[in-house]
Formats: sequence, structure tokens, C-alpha cells
Amino acid sequence: MATLHKKAGVIGWPVSHSLSPKLHSYWLKKYGIDGEYVPLPIQPDKLEEGLQRLIDEAYVGANLTVPHKELVLAYVDEIDALAQAVGAVNTLVFRSGKIIGSNSDVVGFSNNISPFIVGKQKAVVVGAGGAARAVIVALKQLGFENIVICNRSEDKAHILAQQHHAEVVTWDKKHLVLRDADLLVNTTSLGMQNQPALELSLEYLPTDALVTDIVYTPLITPLLAAARARGNPTVDGLGMLLYQAAPGFEAWFGVKPEVTEALRNHMLAL
Ligand code: ATR
Repeated sequence: MATLHKKAGVIGWPVSHSLSPKLHSYWLKKYGIDGEYVPLPIQPDKLEEGLQRLIDEAYVGANLTVPHKELVLAYVDEIDALAQAVGAVNTLVFRSGKIIGSNSDVVGFSNNISPFIVGKQKAVVVGAGGAARAVIVALKQLGFENIVICNRSEDKAHILAQQHHAEVVTWDKKHLVLRDADLLVNTTSLGMQNQPALELSLEYLPTDALVTDIVYTPLITPLLAAARARGNPTVDGLGMLLYQAAPGFEAWFGVKPEVTEALRNHMLAL
């Protein structure tokens, strides 16, 4: 029986910086799958026709990155409950001419931190953008009882808090709210290469609280370095990238891929 060469990719604008093609190519090779996963540069105002072109060219699906995750909601035929809760789609499956959307950022975040969670009473989330929405849905799913959001623009924190029954703390009080936290998550771009660091004193954070960052360039952000220096357990953001890729790969190529130390090392070497 002839095997079918399957095509998928990542839609973004720009998209050349995306590590997803390297990641999926690693798995395709590892599992001996006849397929490809390529960058798909599509301008935001050309998304509808871009999707149709991919369907016409027999793509099996795609991931979406900035600025498409919310825009694509207008063009999907179905979305799953998580994508609905987050209000964003990062994974598409094309099936019988239909576009099915889901959000694997939630599971990507959960799978990355769940082995290391120390307690589930209180989580402090810094930021209130798209990434924070996925993180908060994940924290709810993981069973965190009290989620506190802190964002420079307080109005955005209030909107998110209302949607997800969370609390808000003002930007200038973010160090105080760490007092009895079990988990601290940075969802902002602060700490990323060429960005200022997140200015946050960890003085009040219990030393057994887990600290994680969704930024993975650099792998050890100034926040993670400060947390480590005082003995807090930390989880870097690379795992979220790896784990969020798995559901799409499985849906398109039919193999549940493993996130391993070898894969992490492969990605770090790039
Ligand atoms: P993403 O989808 O990656 O979350 P986003 O929706 O643009 O991106 O959100 C970026 C987040 O980083 C926001 O919480 C933003 O705060 P504002 O809502 O106040 O803009 C936060 N952020 C970015 N630069 C920041 C800075 N210099 N200081 C504080 N927060 C910053």
C-alpha cells in the first residue's frame, strides 16, 4: 500500500523565527514518518484565503502563532472547549474540507509544570495577555484554588479575573502578594532576550514555591535565576513549547510523540 506524504506547518506573520518546524521535523525523523512540517508565512488579512489554499493543497493541519491565534476564530468550523475558554486557537486539523480548531497551549503549560507542583492553594500570574489566558485556564484545570493576576495595565487584569473568577493585585503590590504563593508564573515578555527583566522582588515568596516562566530565550530568565539563587524550584519555558506541539503532531501524523531530554538537548543546540 502506498504511504501518503502528509503536510503540516505553522502559520504566522512573521514566522521564520518559529522553532516548530525544527521540533516537528525531529519527531518525523524519529518516528520514520513520511511527512513534512514547514513555516507558512501568511499575512493577517490573507488568513482566510491562506487556509483555503492549505486545504486545496491537501495539508492535514497547522499550528498558529502571532498574530493569528485569535483572528482564526472567524474561520474555524468547530473549536474545542479549551480553545473556547482561552479565546484562542493554536492548532488546526483539516478534515473533509472542515477546519477544526483547538488550543494546546493549556496542556503544554500543564504538562510542563505538573510534575513539579508543590501546592495548589495560590498561584500568582504576572501578565494578562494571550499567554496568561491559556495559563489561567490550565491553572483552573490543575485545581489551583486562588489565582491572583497582576498586570501593568490593571483593566486587562480585571477583565481576565472576571472571566475566570480570579483576583487582581495592583502592579506596585506584586511582590507583597507572593507571601503565601505556591506558584509564580511570568506570562509577560519581560526577561526575554532584548527585553528588560521583570522587576519583581521575591523577598516574600516561600522558598518552596515553584517559579516558572513562559519565556525560553534565554532558558534561564533573570526571574528564574533569582528564584534559583534563593533555593526555589524552577521550571523553564522550553517544555511548554515542546508539550504544546504534541497534540497537533498526534492528530496529523498518528503517533503520540514523546518529550524527552534528547529532544530538549536537540532544541537547545539550535
Ligand atoms: P502574549 O500573547 O504573548 O501574552 P500580549 O497579549 O501582547 O502577548 O501580552 C503581553 C503581556 O506582557 C501583557 O500582560 C503586557 O502588559 P500590558 O497589558 O500592560 O501591556 C505585558 N508586558 C509587555 N511589556 C511589558 C512591560 N514593559 N512592563 C510590564 N508588562 C509588560
